[in-house]
Amino acid sequence: MTANIVSDAEQDVAAVNVFDPSWWADGPPHGLFKRMRQQSPVHWNPLPDGTGCWMLFRHAEISEVSHDSETFSSRRGGVFINPDQLVNLDVISNMLLYMDPPTHTRHRKILAKVFTPAAVAKMEEGIRARVVTTIDKVIESGRADYAADIAVPIPLLILMELMGAPEEDLPSFYDWTERIEQEIRSPESNSGAGVFMEMAGYLAQQVARQSEAAIEDSLVMRLRNAVVDGAELTDLEIVMFFGLLTFAGNDTTRNTAATGLLTLLEHPEALAALYADPTLIPTAVEEILRWTSVVQWFARTATRDVELDGKRISEGDKVVMWYGSGSRDERVFENPDVFDIHRPKSEHVAYGGGGRHFCLGASLARMELRIILEEVLGRMKDLRLDGNPELVPSNWAYGLSTLPVAFTPGARSDA
Ligand code: HEM
Repeated sequence: MTANIVSDAEQDVAAVNVFDPSWWADGPPHGLFKRMRQQSPVHWNPLPDGTGCWMLFRHAEISEVSHDSETFSSRRGGVFINPDQLVNLDVISNMLLYMDPPTHTRHRKILAKVFTPAAVAKMEEGIRARVVTTIDKVIESGRADYAADIAVPIPLLILMELMGAPEEDLPSFYDWTERIEQEIRSPESNSGAGVFMEMAGYLAQQVARQSEAAIEDSLVMRLRNAVVDGAELTDLEIVMFFGLLTFAGNDTTRNTAATGLLTLLEHPEALAALYADPTLIPTAVEEILRWTSVVQWFARTATRDVELDGKRISEGDKVVMWYGSGSRDERVFENPDVFDIHRPKSEHVAYGGGGRHFCLGASLARMELRIILEEVLGRMKDLRLDGNPELVPSNWAYGLSTLPVAFTPGARSDA
């Protein structure tokens, strides 16, 4: 047998197309991920159009690719399979997520200070107030759609406050998030331009209003007043940054909040432990992030021929990182298929595999998720399922469109 002959085990998975919807009917296919980690961790994945892309299932290669943006570019082919997903690559490459250094480094600096752990710590009181008033709206009825009533509005309202946007604009922010997510779900789509056009109109109004009100520290005004290499950002760069924050700050946190609660309902001993001892919530949040890893994947494009785990990746090949799989890699996590809210330290890749594009809002999201659980468990006693949860049909985002729950109403902690 020569090195070129495919072994039985590899033959078994050689034809697997992980994007095939049949794998996704019940959410992320963790059984398949496990098999791929064992049998084909760097996998040439055939695509229906006759092309293919590389897929990475292990923590080590996800981390390697994420840390080497010289070899694995975000700009060259975008971060999805279709370079023109949402809008044409030349346009969307004005977005931070699609930039390579040194441009990326300069643009990331603009808002980096807003999202440091120390800066985020100062937001705690404001975030808690938003969470409390959102829970107030459903508490008396003893029932809620946790996805729509809790998980959707809280990250949206917090983000809008950071933007300096008035609360009554929530429907627009919600609508943009939904439309972007739908566009991402359909791989051939590049009709996202309408959303960005609407955002551009909205931004122009906000800049005028906030300038008149002498607001300087909102995200909108920070972007408007930013100077990079002696020049202000272009209108397109500002819209793309705004669009990224609006989507990335929202969809991800809401999906983690909803799938996180579902996970707790499916693990009643963990839920009971958190009710009994809320100081466990921060480690539970880390485990929820690992377990749900709601952003399933992002892609990069190789800028040169390179080897990964003995496989030759050619210049121009696309490489997809499966974060949900990396977060359950048995080489990194003990008993990865056990949901353990006491897990001491976690190197999950829910926020990406590290490196330059690591989630800018990681600290903010952690705090939001912690405060949501603190307030929800403090007031919604005896939480239980009250109907069937519905999955968002996607291989990119693990989310729920509906999560009906019932509970016994409790008093506000400040009442
Ligand atoms: C649980 C919630 C969240 C999850 C799971 C999440 C996940 C991710 C992932 C996987 C990436 C790509 C990382 C990479 O390519 O290496 C990312 C990037 C990003 N996230 Fe998050 N995110 C969350 C919350 C947030 C929040 C609250 C914000 C801001 C308000 C935010 C802003 C961003 C931005 C701006 C980027 C692009 C960073 C860059 O390209 O340099 N995210 N996030």
